[in-house]
Amino acid sequence: MGIKNKGLINIHHLNQEQILHILNLAAELKSALNRKKPEDYKLGRGKDILLARLFYENSTRTRASFEIAGQRLGFNITGFDSTEGSSVKKGESLVHTLDMFDAYQADVLVLRHPLDGAAKVASNRLQIPVFNAGDGKHQHPTQTILDLFTIIEHTGRLDNLEVGLSGDLKYGRTVHTLALALSLFSNNTIHLYSPSNLPMPPNIIGLLEERNTKVIHHDKLETMVPDLDIFYQTRIQKERMPDPFEYEKAKKGGIFNAHCMELTKDGFGLMHPLPIDKSLPGIEPALDIHPKSIYKMQAGNGVPTRMALLALSLGLAKDLPAKSSHEEQIIDHFYKELPIRKTPPKKEVSIRPIRERGVVIDHMIPYSERLLSILLNVADKQNAYRAATVRSVSRPDNLKGMLMIENRRLTKEELHLVATLSPGARVNNITDAQVTKKLQLSLPRLIEGINELRCPNVSCITRPRHQEHISPRFEKIGSETLQCSYCGHVVSSQELFNHI
Ligand code: CP
Repeated sequence: MGIKNKGLINIHHLNQEQILHILNLAAELKSALNRKKPEDYKLGRGKDILLARLFYENSTRTRASFEIAGQRLGFNITGFDSTEGSSVKKGESLVHTLDMFDAYQADVLVLRHPLDGAAKVASNRLQIPVFNAGDGKHQHPTQTILDLFTIIEHTGRLDNLEVGLSGDLKYGRTVHTLALALSLFSNNTIHLYSPSNLPMPPNIIGLLEERNTKVIHHDKLETMVPDLDIFYQTRIQKERMPDPFEYEKAKKGGIFNAHCMELTKDGFGLMHPLPIDKSLPGIEPALDIHPKSIYKMQAGNGVPTRMALLALSLGLAKDLPAKSSHEEQIIDHFYKELPIRKTPPKKEVSIRPIRERGVVIDHMIPYSERLLSILLNVADKQNAYRAATVRSVSRPDNLKGMLMIENRRLTKEELHLVATLSPGARVNNITDAQVTKKLQLSLPRLIEGINELRCPNVSCITRPRHQEHISPRFEKIGSETLQCSYCGHVVSSQELFNHI
C-alpha cells in the first residue's frame, strides 16, 4: 500500500523504499523552505484543496506542523483542535463526525484520537487520504517519519544504528512506531530502558525479533548510553493509565542528565518527541541547549515531512513505488476436505450419535460447544442437537468439545464461525449413519461480523464501552494467532474465545 489516495495509518503500510522516497521529498521541501522559495514548495499550485484536521486529544506540535505544512503547500484548513466546543461533547460518534467532513468535501483528513484504532476507522469510512496523528497508545506514524528524517539528518544513515528507547515504552505510541520502522533497516540494535511497569509490549518485541533486529534490555541508563548513536526519551503517559498507582510507580524512571550526556560518544543525538512534562522531566532542562540535544530540530522537521506526506497523498509530487501486489494478495483457506475412512460408526462414543442425516462437529476446543450451539441457533431447540465435552476415544488424556446437529448442514459462513471459535475442529456431514464429507478447519484469515467477540485491549475503539459501534475485525498472523485490524492487539484464538 502506498500513500497516494490513502494517507498513512500504520507504519506497517510502508516498506523501506517508500520511507526513503518520503524522506527524500521532505529533504527537498526543507531546502526550499530554508531558501524561502514558495515556487518550489507550494505544491498545491493554486488548487482549492481543503485539509480537515480533527484533534480529539491535546497537541501542540502535530496539529501546528500539519497546519503549517498545509498552509505552506497552499491548502485551506478546517476542523477542530479540541473536542471542547464541538458536537463531540453532545455525544456524536467518530463516524458521524467524519461523515460531516466528507459532506463538506474535505480533500484530506488528519485525525488524532485517544482510542487505539480510531485512524483505521476513519480510513475505512472515507475515500480521501487519512493521516493518523496519533491513535491512543497504538501508533503515531507521521511522528516516526519526522523522527527518521531527523536521525538520517544527524547520523547520515538509518541502518547500523544503536538506538536507545526510554521512558513510557508501554503506552508511548511514538516508540512503538519508531521501533517498528527501524526494524525495516538492516543491522539496527534497539536498546530498551523503562520503569519496570512500563515495558515495550511483547508483540512489538516479537515483531522486531522476527525481523532480526537485536533488542537489548537495560536496567541502568549509565550502562546503556555509551554505545548509543541516538537516545530517544519519552514522556510518561499519565493520561493513558487506568490505575493512578501505575503512574506513581512509573515516576521512578530515569532522567537523562548532564552525567549521562558526558558518557555519550561523538555524533550522539538526544531526541524526544515532546512534550516534556515539566513536573517529571525525562531530560534535565539544562540540556535543552546542549549541541547534542536535537529535539528542537526534530520537532521543526515535522513541517517538511508532513508537507511531503500530504503532497504525496494528493498526487502533488511523484508517487511512491508501489508494493508488489503479491504482498497484498492472500487467499483464505480455512478448511480442507479430508479423505473418508469407511469404518463403521464407533460404539463407544460418549453421546448419542447421529444415525440419519446431520452434522457432527468434533475435536472442538473443550467447553466451546455450548457457545457454538447458541451462535448456530440450535441452543433452544432441545431435540435438534447434542453437545458435550468428552474424552477422546483414541487419546483418553485429551478432552474435546463435540456438537451434533440433526438434519443440518453448515453454510460457508457457519463453517467460518466454527473455524474462528475452534480452529482445529473437524466437521462431518452424516447421511444414513455414514460420514459423507469430512472437513478439517483452521483459523480463517479474516474474522469479522461476530459482534460477540471482544478485542482484549480495553482502549480499542471496537470495545462496546466506547460506544463507537465499530464491529470487531481480526486478521490471522499465525496458525492460532490473530491481530485486531484496528488497534493491532495480538491475541490467540483461544483468548479471543474466552472473552465472549
Ligand atoms: N510529538 C507530539 O505528538 O507532540 P504533540 O502531542 O504536541 O502533538
